[in-house]
Amino acid sequence: MKFFVDTADTQAISDLNDLGMVDGVTTNPSLILKSGRDIIEVTREICGIVTGPVSAEVVALEADAMIAEGRKLAEIAENITVKLPLTWDGLKACKVLSGEGKMVNVTLCFSANQALLAAKAGATFISPFIGRLDDMSLDGVELIEDIRTIYDNYGYETEILAASIRSINHVQQVALIGADVMTAPPEVIKKLASHPLTDKGLEQFMADWAKTGQNIL
Ligand code: E4P
Repeated sequence: MKFFVDTADTQAISDLNDLGMVDGVTTNPSLILKSGRDIIEVTREICGIVTGPVSAEVVALEADAMIAEGRKLAEIAENITVKLPLTWDGLKACKVLSGEGKMVNVTLCFSANQALLAAKAGATFISPFIGRLDDMSLDGVELIEDIRTIYDNYGYETEILAASIRSINHVQQVALIGADVMTAPPEVIKKLASHPLTDKGLEQFMADWAKTGQNIL
């Protein structure tokens, strides 16, 4: 499963990228706001750090304006993925931009039927938001499972990008189902390395090592 980082924080992206943990980046208007930076400038910097797909989201609501914004964002770098909302206008823009050979990430997906439409419109990625469904006491992980089944039934090549990941359990669950990609905040990706038994085991080894009185170097 590919790991995308869900942030516009260039330092956090760079740190994880140095460890080989970054296959791509996703941003959205809220993350651009959080960064406090200009969308074009920060997106260009991210594209200079990461070689994989970098999602940059349009903010227009009407198809022609979305297409114009998408074309402008795509000029930033070759690895830009134009992010479009799952509306009829977004699907129209998806059809046009994917037809031009641009990568497209259709976002704000909350149902398997929406994911089916995105695949038919030629999306490179579909982003089901699992955390926001869980927030409403619905099952976000089940949505990933349903989309996996539907895409596999018909051989759609659109990649399932599990988004709105809130916990390390989400990561494991979507990996077991076979999501192609997951995007998570840097803190969640870092937490994947933690386990209380690792900490406890290391503490014991260090205590015993100190008693040997030895040094390796
Ligand atoms: C990524 O593409 C999405 O915009 C993001 O994962 C949404 O996450 P949130 O629901 O935590 O805002």
